[in-house]
Amino acid sequence: MIEIDFTGKTVLVTGGAGFVGSNVVGRIVRTGGKVIVLDDLFTGDLTNIDQDIPYEFVEGSVTDYNLVRDLMTRVDYVVHLAARNIIISTKNPMEDYRTNIGGTLNILMAARETQPKGIVYSSSASIYGNPRILPIMEDEGPVTFSPYSVSKLAGENYCYAFYETFFVPVSVVRYSNIYGPKQNPSNPYCGVISKFIMSIDQGISPKVHGDGHQTRDFTYVDDAVDGTLMALLSPRADGMMFNIGSGAEISILDLVRNLNELMGKDVGCEHIDRRDIDNIRRRVLNIERARTRLRWQPRVTLREGLRRTIDWYYAIKKKTA
Ligand SMILES: NC(=O)c1ccc[n+]([C@@H]2O[C@H](COP(=O)([O-])OP(=O)(O)OC[C@H]3O[C@@H](n4cnc5c(N)ncnc54)[C@H](O)[C@@H]3O)[C@@H](O)[C@H]2O)c1
Repeated sequence: MIEIDFTGKTVLVTGGAGFVGSNVVGRIVRTGGKVIVLDDLFTGDLTNIDQDIPYEFVEGSVTDYNLVRDLMTRVDYVVHLAARNIIISTKNPMEDYRTNIGGTLNILMAARETQPKGIVYSSSASIYGNPRILPIMEDEGPVTFSPYSVSKLAGENYCYAFYETFFVPVSVVRYSNIYGPKQNPSNPYCGVISKFIMSIDQGISPKVHGDGHQTRDFTYVDDAVDGTLMALLSPRADGMMFNIGSGAEISILDLVRNLNELMGKDVGCEHIDRRDIDNIRRRVLNIERARTRLRWQPRVTLREGLRRTIDWYYAIKKKTA
């Protein structure tokens, strides 16, 4: 197993003020590392980062090559999470193209000059489209249904090309839906679990797009952070992609049932029209490669993860009341 220990190491975390990023920053600093966060605060917020930890913040964009290169001269590793999300990307594919593809290319180009010890790039299970075989293995051919999946896959392809051609030590993690603390429900782009928790707490039936029988593989954020940092630190990960999921699928209807139960409520759900980004029917990832190569495995069950996320939600609500 790769030990997550950043003692004596400095890490650039792009998108570090976002949901996954702020959790990554916390883990790196608590395991002895120094962090520089590069974020344009598009969806990120510095309040996501724990107030008791030291870090350096640079407000700026991954689309700014000189800035990216200058920051990369100061670090050992890069966790590249900055991206426009699927909703913005669908509304404005050009904005997505500039950040998700252009920003990733900037990191890789700068790596040729600055030679970091490792880079990890966060891709998405959305690149699998509607897969033929479940659970989805990394070798499943990509099917890009959305501009977002096009850009996430393009970022991956640049990673493999820079690894093969220029020996840039980069690995790729393909996340399924991540949830957990810091996924702020007041952010209109946030994931479904936080939104559902807020809705149920307010006694409002969560809005479910379509019939609710679509399934997803929900990953607790601490598990995703572990997988990401193990891929970053493992020399066996360079040039490879790893599915990071829970390995279990659940329908959206069952998710709502679980949340109602855990929160002691019974508000059911309201069915509304499918959106253009809801065209994936079933999703569950095969996570054997990360298990065997990185010795990573998800540790938090869905029930436990939901419980922790609900506790976080109530704690934040109390603090801001
Ligand atoms: N959360 C998930 O379920 C999920 C699933 C698959 C893939 N991912 C990927 O994981 C990464 C992190 O996602 P997240 O859920 O934390 O999203 P998020 O929106 O909370 O975080 C993204 C961060 O990147 C920043 N950012 C956006 N454009 C930028 C730019 N041009 N320059 C600098 N910073 C910029 C945002 O301000 C934000 O802080 C993204 O790359 C996303 O595509 C997330």
